[in-house]
Amino acid sequence: MAELIDGKRISQEIKDEVRAEIEAGNIDACLAVIIVGEDPASVVYVNNKKKACEYCKIRSLSYELAEDTTQEELIALIEKLNGDDTVDGILVQLPLPPHINEDMVIEAIDPKKDVDGFSKRSVGALSIGTKGFVSCTPAGIIELLKRSGIEIAGKECVVMGRSNIVGKPMAMLMLRENATVTVVHSKTRHIEDVCRRADILIVAIGKPKLVTQDYVKDGAVVIDVGIHRVDPEENNGKKLCGDVDFDDVSPVADAITPVPGGVGPMTIAMLMKNVLISAKDR
Ligand code: GUN
Repeated sequence: MAELIDGKRISQEIKDEVRAEIEAGNIDACLAVIIVGEDPASVVYVNNKKKACEYCKIRSLSYELAEDTTQEELIALIEKLNGDDTVDGILVQLPLPPHINEDMVIEAIDPKKDVDGFSKRSVGALSIGTKGFVSCTPAGIIELLKRSGIEIAGKECVVMGRSNIVGKPMAMLMLRENATVTVVHSKTRHIEDVCRRADILIVAIGKPKLVTQDYVKDGAVVIDVGIHRVDPEENNGKKLCGDVDFDDVSPVADAITPVPGGVGPMTIAMLMKNVLISAKDR
C-alpha cells in the first residue's frame, strides 16, 4: 500500500520557513494580487493567497477589478506596480475575461516581479537553466519529492500533460534534477505502456480518475495535479478527486499524493517562497 505524500504538512513547513525568515530579517515583502471579475473558483484561490500572505507576514495589496475592465486599464495598473519599489511580486489571477489577451498581460509584468513564473522570460530562463522564477505548481512538486526523501536523479519520469503552466515546466524541472523525462499527451500512442515505464509518474491532464493501475508500474511514485468536484454520493462521501483513481492506484504505488492535501497546497506555499526571493533580491 502506498505511502501518502503529505502536501498539507510540507506546505505548512515551507510557509513556516518563509515566515521565520521574514521575521528574522525584518523583511518588508509585498505581493500585489489582481483579479478581474468574480469567477467563483478564482475568488477562492485569491482569498487563499491573501490568507497565506497574512500568515507569512507578507503584505498583500488587493485589486479587485470589474469584469468589464479593459486590457489597457489592466496593463496600466501593472505598469504602475512595476514602477513601485515597495511591491515585490505581481500576480494576475487567471483566467481573464475573454476580451483581455492573457499573453499580453503576463508579458507586461516586470520579470523581476513575475512570482508566478508565467512570462516568456521566466520560462526561457527555466529552459536554459539561468536565474528566474519557476512556476509554483511544478516547483512545489519538486519540493514534495525532495522533502519526502524521493530521489529524482537517474529515475524514469513520465509527465502526463503538456500545458504551459504545469506539464512543460514540470518536464524542464525534472530534467534539471537529472531525471530521464518523457512527456505524454492526447496524441501519444500506447500511453499506458509508456506511463508504466515511470519510476515517477506526474499526472496533469485534467480528466477525473483517468489514471488507473493500468498506467502504473509496481512501486512507482504517483503525483496527482488534478482537482475535480464530484458527487459525494457516488464517491464514498468525497467531494473532490484528482486525475488519478486513488483507490485503484494506491495498492500498487510506493507513494502517492492525495486530493485534496497533495499538490494543491504546495502551489501557494511556493508562491510565498517566490515573493520572499524577490524581496531579498530587491
Ligand atoms: N489560475 C489557476 N492557477 C493559477 C496560478 O497558479 N496563478 C495564477 N495567476 N492564476 C491561476
